[in-house]
Amino acid sequence: MANAYTNRKLSARYPTDLPAWKKLEKHFGDDMRERQLRDLFLRDKKRAQKLKLQAGDLALDYSKNHLNSTTTKLLAQLAKQADVPAAIEAMFAGDEINKTEGRSVLHVALRAKIADSVAHDTPGITEVWEVLTKMESFVEDVHSGRIKGSTGKRLTDIVNIGIGGSDLGPVMASRALRTYWKEDMRFHSVSNVDGTQLADLTRELDAETTLFVICSKTFTTLETMTNARAARAWVVEQLDEVAVQYHFVAASTNHEAMDEFGIRTDFRFGFWNWVGGRYSLWSAVGLSLALVVGMDVFKAVLSGGRRMDLHFRQAPLGENMPVLLALIGIWYNNFFSAKSQAILPYDNRLDRFPAYLQQLQMESSGKSVRMDGKKVRCDTGMVIWGEAGNNAQHSFYQLLHQGTRLVPVDFLLSESSDLATANCEAQAEALMAGTTDEDIEPHRVHAGNKPSNTIHYENLTPEVLGQLIALYEHKVFAEGVIWGINSFDQWGVELGKKLAAARLP
Ligand code: F6P
Repeated sequence: MANAYTNRKLSARYPTDLPAWKKLEKHFGDDMRERQLRDLFLRDKKRAQKLKLQAGDLALDYSKNHLNSTTTKLLAQLAKQADVPAAIEAMFAGDEINKTEGRSVLHVALRAKIADSVAHDTPGITEVWEVLTKMESFVEDVHSGRIKGSTGKRLTDIVNIGIGGSDLGPVMASRALRTYWKEDMRFHSVSNVDGTQLADLTRELDAETTLFVICSKTFTTLETMTNARAARAWVVEQLDEVAVQYHFVAASTNHEAMDEFGIRTDFRFGFWNWVGGRYSLWSAVGLSLALVVGMDVFKAVLSGGRRMDLHFRQAPLGENMPVLLALIGIWYNNFFSAKSQAILPYDNRLDRFPAYLQQLQMESSGKSVRMDGKKVRCDTGMVIWGEAGNNAQHSFYQLLHQGTRLVPVDFLLSESSDLATANCEAQAEALMAGTTDEDIEPHRVHAGNKPSNTIHYENLTPEVLGQLIALYEHKVFAEGVIWGINSFDQWGVELGKKLAAARLP
């Protein structure tokens, strides 16, 4: 069903031509460029209480940003003029908003309830619940020992073989949910192509109790297939050819290739071309995670994602957390000329979250051509980087505090540790306020005026993790709509793959 967003003419306006963009340029030059964050707090004693937003279990404190009420009003106008609300509806309706690949974008359907009516007419949608049910009984059967290895032993070591979205999601989430691992289940992963990860793993694993989950949307990815074949050879060497039937399952959309590899049909978990790789954790790509944490926990992640979806769909632009994060990012990127953004979780369980967001944001927003094929006229995706909490403090915070570059920060703060909370809050304040002592030697000066968001949550539960992931997914979508790019293709990774293939013996 086409709407204002999908009907957009190829001559759609550049964001830089929108009235709100022009007003933001003027507002930046006249009011905000030189404004000190400290002064914004001094002028309005209630600023910290005012610039807060709650969505589900996540509380966003965006008070330490270079913005006032005019800025937020103009940014919301920008989102409106760029048709963000229509784009959100187009996604949930199943319109082919991934125009360069002619596909719908429906990872939101993977966590929806039937009653949410997400794109019910799209082929494959009703199979979502069938695959979930199949995953559920498979996971239960592995846990109970009804499904065993070829020699009759229980399968307790789960090895995810994948790369990119077929690796980063399961790896990040399994680390984030470490407290939820079933007592005797263990998660491992193999992604890189040089063979060392698998070599190290097989030294400590017992083939009889190991289950490999080959995760690949295409089932053709060089790294994944190389590792899958090496793992297969190891299983055959340790056990025998028949064992392949017991020790390999797959999540993929490519049945022919799964046939060829020898994955039996009841050990295949499908998904659909409207699930992008970096958005696929919610699909059968989450199988390795579900095998380790159990299906209840996996479903709780889905329900967290859905909670953020409902917020994204319903909240007005100015109070819409993903949209607000996108707009604040655009404010720094396109007006303050920031080149990168740091993601700093004060929660060690999220140590791979920055890497996960690197793919999500940089593969989605690293584009210089618009949906209509024309060159963009402003910068798009920033470089995303980061590291968990105090480890980061003792590594690169020097540059954040005293370097020459503006690096806006997203802090993620689990309030379950007083020490982590104290450190995170102290860093946000130091970045913002700096020191005002005039007698201090120059190399000790903290100029401050460095912006940050803090996203607080009480504990990293499965629901909270789902909300966090969906928050950034939607943030990336909203910024892409404003820039007029397609956030869901990744043509930029193809040439290197082709050139590498040509060099192979
Ligand atoms: O090379 C990038 C990419 O296409 C990612 O978008 C994707 O997540 C990854 O490769 C893995 O692809 P597949 O799941 O098909 O193996």
